Amino acid sequence: MNVLVIGSGGREHALVWKIAQSPLVEKVYCAPGNPGTARLGENVDIRVDDLPGLLDFARRQKIDLTVVGPELPLSLGVVDLFEEYGLKIFGARRNAAFIEASKAFAKELMKKYQVPTAAYEVFTEVDPAVAFIDRIGTPIVIKADGLAAGKGVVIAQDRDEAVQAVTDMLSGSAFGDAGAKVVIEEFLRGEEASFLAFTDGKNIIPLASAQDHKAVFDGDQGPNTGGMGAYSPAPVVTPAIHEKAMAEVMRRTVDGMAAEGRPYRGVLYAGLMIDGESVKTLEFNARFGDPECQPLLMRLKSDIVPVLLAVAEGDISNVRLEWHDEASVCVVMAAGGYPGEYRKGDEIRGLDGGGAMDDLVVFHAGTTEKGGRYFTNGGRVLGVTARGATVKDAIDKAYQGVVAIEWDGAHYRRDIGRKAIGR
Ligand code: AMP
Ligand code: GLY
Repeated sequence: MNVLVIGSGGREHALVWKIAQSPLVEKVYCAPGNPGTARLGENVDIRVDDLPGLLDFARRQKIDLTVVGPELPLSLGVVDLFEEYGLKIFGARRNAAFIEASKAFAKELMKKYQVPTAAYEVFTEVDPAVAFIDRIGTPIVIKADGLAAGKGVVIAQDRDEAVQAVTDMLSGSAFGDAGAKVVIEEFLRGEEASFLAFTDGKNIIPLASAQDHKAVFDGDQGPNTGGMGAYSPAPVVTPAIHEKAMAEVMRRTVDGMAAEGRPYRGVLYAGLMIDGESVKTLEFNARFGDPECQPLLMRLKSDIVPVLLAVAEGDISNVRLEWHDEASVCVVMAAGGYPGEYRKGDEIRGLDGGGAMDDLVVFHAGTTEKGGRYFTNGGRVLGVTARGATVKDAIDKAYQGVVAIEWDGAHYRRDIGRKAIGR
């Protein structure tokens, strides 16, 4: 069969890498893809938000399955459009992807269906928001309602910072329309984990546990990014926590979405805050995490294509996932300046030494290729991903890959996976 992957990041390179290994697959296309996906299949120059262009391509090329990576095309309704034309597509429909596209909606859903989450209120005006901040005190968390590429959350340590964040968002100077509404919520302590599951709207099949590293600097310091690295499994997700997350977060959310007339089909990602026995939901995403997808797919033993197909067809009751026992780690290498304004066009050296092995893969994200040379072209540039017998082995192997690669301004965290060893 022919498969089309929509997107161009590290997550999509990992999806193309895994899908291309399936004996069921003849050819994988990626729209628009990156130099990493070009090596495994064929890139097609269609933007992720060009829905008519994507549909037209899928129909002409007789694509048997389309897999959506990022949130933007989901929230624009790419799944609804493909389904209207009888095409198979993996991803959440527009009204289900709303769980990510609106944080206010996600919070209201959680309240209604008793999904544990931080206490909160939603505001569209500065004055009542400031009154709420004064009532709750700091630290406090301010979130832009809409999509903001993982950067619409401010953890304010003092009143000035909180008031500034609310004012910036509600005045439209930060995040435009995405900030026209803000969610203000209680600051939660604990350790985060990314809990992902496939669902057909009824059945829920959890993926292996994973943990992201959101802050840009070692020790979780500095501003938040889209994710500077990830590993799997995450020991913070003990069997008891796993059970709780399935029962109180996943089951209630999937049932709640169905009851709301927004049946959820696809991969549902819950960002969890775990503190002792307590599990609370920070957010939902309607897609695979990036970079969590990279280590997760490296640990997935099963062919992913029948799984994606079963989700697209709406029945996963016969799906079983098998995982490698080994651990995997992805270290993100970022461009100078990221997550602020960042450099582009720096030549990347040492890429070819860095891995075409089964257990060490350099996933491309923000790169471009000219005449066999590679240059930086995005904030998160590469995701060096390794599998090893233990998390320590996987970390060592990933960093061996990382140190072989360099460009002007490159930076990465040196502590990816350390929390897992700490346990
Ligand atoms: P979100 O996009 O809602 O997951 O927020 C991004 C990041 O901000 C999370 O991964 C957490 O690191 C942090 N965060 C969000 N909400 C809270 C909260 N209520 N308490 C503490 N940290 C939070
Ligand atoms: N790595 C976090 C995310 O994909 O939202």
